[in-house]
Amino acid sequence: MIKVGILGCGFMGKMHANVYDTLPNAQLVAVADIRPEAASELAGQHSAKAYDSLARMLAAEKLDMVDICLPTYLHADAAVEATKAGCSVLCEKPMAMNLEEADRMIEAARSSGVQLMIAHCIRFWPEYMVLKDYVDNKKLGPMLSINLTRVSPLPGWGWEDWNIDEARSGAAALDLHIHDTDFILYLLGQPDTIYARGVVSAHGLNHMYTTMTFGKVVAHLEGGWDFPADFPFKMAFRAAFENGAILWDGGPLTVYENGKEPFQPKIETISAADLGGNISDMGGYYWEIKYFVDCLESGQPLKTVTPESSRQSLAVSLQEIAQAKGV
Ligand SMILES: NC(=O)c1ccc[n+]([C@@H]2O[C@H](COP(=O)([O-])OP(=O)(O)OC[C@H]3O[C@@H](n4cnc5c(N)ncnc54)[C@H](O)[C@@H]3O)[C@@H](O)[C@H]2O)c1
Repeated sequence: MIKVGILGCGFMGKMHANVYDTLPNAQLVAVADIRPEAASELAGQHSAKAYDSLARMLAAEKLDMVDICLPTYLHADAAVEATKAGCSVLCEKPMAMNLEEADRMIEAARSSGVQLMIAHCIRFWPEYMVLKDYVDNKKLGPMLSINLTRVSPLPGWGWEDWNIDEARSGAAALDLHIHDTDFILYLLGQPDTIYARGVVSAHGLNHMYTTMTFGKVVAHLEGGWDFPADFPFKMAFRAAFENGAILWDGGPLTVYENGKEPFQPKIETISAADLGGNISDMGGYYWEIKYFVDCLESGQPLKTVTPESSRQSLAVSLQEIAQAKGV
């Protein structure tokens, strides 16, 4: 049984807590938040103990892992503190604000002999996993081009509005757009060329348009959160192959193969009955956390996301941001 402590009881801390309830080999034993009332509320919902700091949680509990759901600018220090205490760390994306912080996290985990995984959930999102399978196995022949989109209103839920403060979140250019930057690297490797442009609005670089090339393949990534409050969150992709196309854009994922009827591949979902709970809104978070817990329990090395792959995604994101800002 993997004993878990969650650090940060906001939007993602609550989401992750729901996932641990469904895993038979994990137990959420403690949660911590700088706001004691937030920690108490989440602890009460999950029969865990509440703490008001990471240090107090680590001192009082024997944890196998800490799940860091803090604002991004706090990731590195918390990850170093947790790994030094001998805990493995699952840490929300983006890994950190800069490469120096990322390197500190990697070194701390390595020297303590514990695991570190950045929660790049799109690598575990069922529709994106189908796309990865089609690309890896050339099921429609070689890929020609791909368009990845992620747009939303400005996030308004953050503690102290940290996520609309570019100095603490990196704005949409880092916080939101890195989902697709990370996924395209997972899909196609390191880009040969990057051409990034962005739109600066009241709270920073909040809409990115990046074109990357990978050999002959062209990828276009758009990510922005400069839409009105009522605008629906949308993530989507469209990929063209020599023998067809795959579309996921609001409806079910659909494969268009030349000369055949379009069809909708089976998406691997877990029914509520299987888990004794409702995971309909857990998407890739369920598969991501299950993967990390299973790797810890079995001692299998992490492959789907490694500290180095997350550092690389951060490096490319920072390169996109530098280009878009003209620095
Ligand atoms: N994977 C995804 O789809 C996804 C979605 C949203 C956010 N995120 C990421 O998750 C992380 C958290 O974002 P969020 O939306 O949950 O933020 P949030 O503001 O909702 O929650 C952050 C929590 O951290 C607490 N906190 C702040 N400083 C603390 C400290 N020193 N010690 C303990 N607790 C402290 C706050 O009180 C708050 O409860 C960010 O890195 C963000 O980029 C990922």
